[in-house]
Amino acid sequence: MSPRTQSKTQDRKKGDVPHSYLEEIVDSSNDAIIGETPEGTIAMWNPAAERLFGLKSGEIKGKRITAIMAPDRSHELARMMKQVRQGKRFDHFETECVNKDGLSIDVSMTVVPIQDDKGNIVSVLSIVRDITRRKKGRATIERRNRELLTFHRLSEIVLSPRSLAESYLDIVDEIRAATGFPIASIALFDEARQMITFQGLRGLPRRPNQSVLELPVDETISSVVIRTGKPLIEMHVLDQPAYRSKVMRWSRAQTFVGFPLKVDKRIIGCLNLAHTKSIEISPDTSRWIESLANYVAVLTERKRSEEELRSSREQLRELSKHIQSVVEEERKRIAREIHDVLGQELSLLQLELSLMVDQLGQSEKELRKKAKSMSKLIDVSIQSVQRISADLRPTLLDNLGLGAAVDWAAKEFQKRTGIPCHFSVDPPEMKVDQERSTALFRILQEAFTNVLRHAKATKVSVQLVKLPGAVVLTVQDNGVGISLQRITDSKSVGLTGMRERVLPWGGTLAITSKPAKGTAIVVTVPIEL
Ligand SMILES: Nc1ncnc2c1ncn2[C@@H]1O[C@H](COP(=O)(O)OP(=O)(O)O)[C@@H](O)[C@H]1O
Ligand SMILES: [Mg+2]
Repeated sequence: MSPRTQSKTQDRKKGDVPHSYLEEIVDSSNDAIIGETPEGTIAMWNPAAERLFGLKSGEIKGKRITAIMAPDRSHELARMMKQVRQGKRFDHFETECVNKDGLSIDVSMTVVPIQDDKGNIVSVLSIVRDITRRKKGRATIERRNRELLTFHRLSEIVLSPRSLAESYLDIVDEIRAATGFPIASIALFDEARQMITFQGLRGLPRRPNQSVLELPVDETISSVVIRTGKPLIEMHVLDQPAYRSKVMRWSRAQTFVGFPLKVDKRIIGCLNLAHTKSIEISPDTSRWIESLANYVAVLTERKRSEEELRSSREQLRELSKHIQSVVEEERKRIAREIHDVLGQELSLLQLELSLMVDQLGQSEKELRKKAKSMSKLIDVSIQSVQRISADLRPTLLDNLGLGAAVDWAAKEFQKRTGIPCHFSVDPPEMKVDQERSTALFRILQEAFTNVLRHAKATKVSVQLVKLPGAVVLTVQDNGVGISLQRITDSKSVGLTGMRERVLPWGGTLAITSKPAKGTAIVVTVPIEL
């Protein structure tokens, strides 16, 4: 019991003024309870009302209830009171009051007419509950929800397959909607060139005819943010000569808010917001803009590195394609040289040797025998020359295509190694462009070398299939198999080289292997339909 109610109880014991049970409730209530006469003047004002409004009962009694209403809400209350005097009650009506110092209080009011036995209204009772905190809580939740939605939308924009440059306009629009600032842009800082690129320039009243604009960093207000790494919030920006940059003049802005875009400790730019009116930035708004800036920074960096990765991958592919074509050209040249020059010279040597033998007398038996073995050696050399030049660049590949070249290579492999090699091609007449044919042929050569060197196989089969969207080459042996570690080892230069060969077309190389069950290499190269 509070001392106050205690004293009243004592009072009552004395029997001076008997307090009713109802009055006890009114006094100890946490809600403000206000009683009015039918004429509309305050006649009762409980301790909770004193606390809520900061007005003592003596100060307010006899005044009208409009004294505690927010000015723009009092007409609403007057209308309601009129109805109450006619017998209507209102439950949990939300409105706004002011306290002694004029500070606003959000309240929920229940207003009840009190009638006597004959139905005359003898007073009007208002029960007023402070809901400022509840309302604030609700507003915070709503704001958080809106913020989350904004973050969600921003990620969606960045995750879309469009480039970052294309996405900036949408990002900026989202930020304008989320902050209520009509003018916004993302200023990206190019440190090497000391330039600022404004992306998604939006809402400038005197707008240049483009949404992307480049300016030297020191000719922009963003430079202040970028140089200091600190936010700049300025409510009278045009009054300050130092801030009167070109873009600021276009914007006719009074208020400028700039937050650095930071990635780790690096400043990659600045999120700029501006308003043509001079507006106060609350700590909440400032925090909100800061988190937007952080988010934009992270998203920008992520998308940038994705784009860089993609373009460097493309460059790598182009480079590897180029290197391979240079190597192929060189091989072709060497193959031709060996075949034509060396081959012809050996044939000539053979011819001259046989002419010489013709001139030898029948008695020169020893010399004839020697010449014969020399001629055999020359034959072998001619064959070697043919083999070497064919290995370097099978003319079959250029003249009859991939199917014929693979068929030849399979037969050669069997002939040279004695390991039976089965070959199938489907469809028998397949056309594959020269670059892909070369790549597949070189992969086959490396696969054959590996089988011979490592597999200890007794059987090999090669399959070449052309599907609607791809050519697939499979080389399978029944040897010892490769471990997963070897397959993925970056030191496996041969295997890596095979993979790289099909990179220019986004092709793949799959290796499956089981110990003692052999190895299968499946190469898939996409082709245009
Ligand atoms: N067909 C195969 N059967 C068994 N092991 C293989 C086969 N092909 C490759 N390997 C294993 O994978 C390793 C990597 O192959 P590769 O990159 O071509 O390198 P290299 O042939 O120069 O050793 C080889 O050293 C070998 O151990
Ligand atoms: Mg190898």
